[in-house]
Amino acid sequence: MVISVPHANRLQGTIHVPGDKSISHRGVIFGALAQGTTRLENFLMADDCINTIKIFRQMGIEIDIKGHNTVVVQGKGIYGLSAPKGQLDAGNSGTTARLLMGLLAGQDFDSILTGDDSLRKRPMDRVVIPLRQMGARLMGIENKEFLPITILGKGATLKSIDYTMPVASAQVKSSLILASMYADNSSHIHQPAISRDHTEIMLESFGGRIHTDGETITTYPQPELYGQDLLIPGDISSAAYFLTAALLVPDSEIILKNVGINPTRSGILDVYKAMGASINIERIYSGGKEPSADITVKSSSLKGTVIEGSLIPRLIDELPIIALAATQAEGTTIIKDAEELKVKESDRIDSTVGILKKIGANIESTPDGMIIQGPSPLFGTQLRPGSDHRMVMMATIAGLIAQGSTTIHDANWVNISYPDFFAQIEALRC
Ligand code: S3P
Repeated sequence: MVISVPHANRLQGTIHVPGDKSISHRGVIFGALAQGTTRLENFLMADDCINTIKIFRQMGIEIDIKGHNTVVVQGKGIYGLSAPKGQLDAGNSGTTARLLMGLLAGQDFDSILTGDDSLRKRPMDRVVIPLRQMGARLMGIENKEFLPITILGKGATLKSIDYTMPVASAQVKSSLILASMYADNSSHIHQPAISRDHTEIMLESFGGRIHTDGETITTYPQPELYGQDLLIPGDISSAAYFLTAALLVPDSEIILKNVGINPTRSGILDVYKAMGASINIERIYSGGKEPSADITVKSSSLKGTVIEGSLIPRLIDELPIIALAATQAEGTTIIKDAEELKVKESDRIDSTVGILKKIGANIESTPDGMIIQGPSPLFGTQLRPGSDHRMVMMATIAGLIAQGSTTIHDANWVNISYPDFFAQIEALRC
């Protein structure tokens, strides 16, 4: 799909951003492993999470979709999954693939996990290496750690692990937490920096035992989990595009309702405030450990900043759109310690720099990030973000502030995380 994005003069309105992608995946996973019914309200109905649903259906779990965004999972307990017929296809979803690898390693059946062209190129050694240390038997084609990977769970027993993670990754951490539920003893996972903690929070809320002390997580073999009713907060990674659009398009004001502000995810709010943004966080719903809030954001004059260190995992998926904001900020913005961007749905250092340069920004890549000088006027052009949903959405927001009209190729990739994205943008124009 190719779309044309005309320049926007002003944006105004209220947006209900869709449910959090990370929490939606985990809701299906823990719902399937729990005893009884789990009801997930405000579930993200987008391709990535639908792939997770399909995979659990293939393993014998009954999952109903009710109305627009309610999912009801009939859990069968920790040992209730059954051997799937055919391969399990995670599509484009790295979260599905990596979390499932840990879970499947602990099942008493064999399975094959695969994904689309993009996912089959993304590194899986980060989970395969520690899972093998636990005794899991995982085999990629020609002994390479890429999908498709066969998981020989039948007859395997998992040992506990004491593992120091080389990268701060919630996907790796979560994969190990899921595997350690089936291990012979308690496991310890040490993170180099704190990444999103939705797995820890959800496991506990389903009645599981897990303990976090700073960067170290202790997990235990789990006897039983219990189905829950969860209201999934809006995804701050999706809200990020509207936050940025409101900041950059003159005379704009957008209210974002019910956005998740878990501190392990809210780095973008800290960065934008440091850059001088007018952002108001109101009506914080703090029920449970996944707080959410209504956020009002207005057009603002921004100044450059430095984004580095332990802040990076708190905004890893938002860095491309923050880079766009930096092109309109006064002075220099430096993003460093972000080499993880290279192994996302695309090499997001290359793709961010490529798109923003093409549209007129002053931006250079570095081995672990980028350097942006602002402000630069942007000029509508043809942009080809490729098969990366977040790059399509970033390119669209760039189009709103560029002079003239911008053409975005591959626009259908928004379906991975935000099928209503273009309709919601159009509704804000005035
Ligand atoms: C995710 C974790 C992040 C993030 C991804 C979703 C998750 O990946 O980029 O979009 O749901 O656990 P890493 O933790 O591997 O950086």
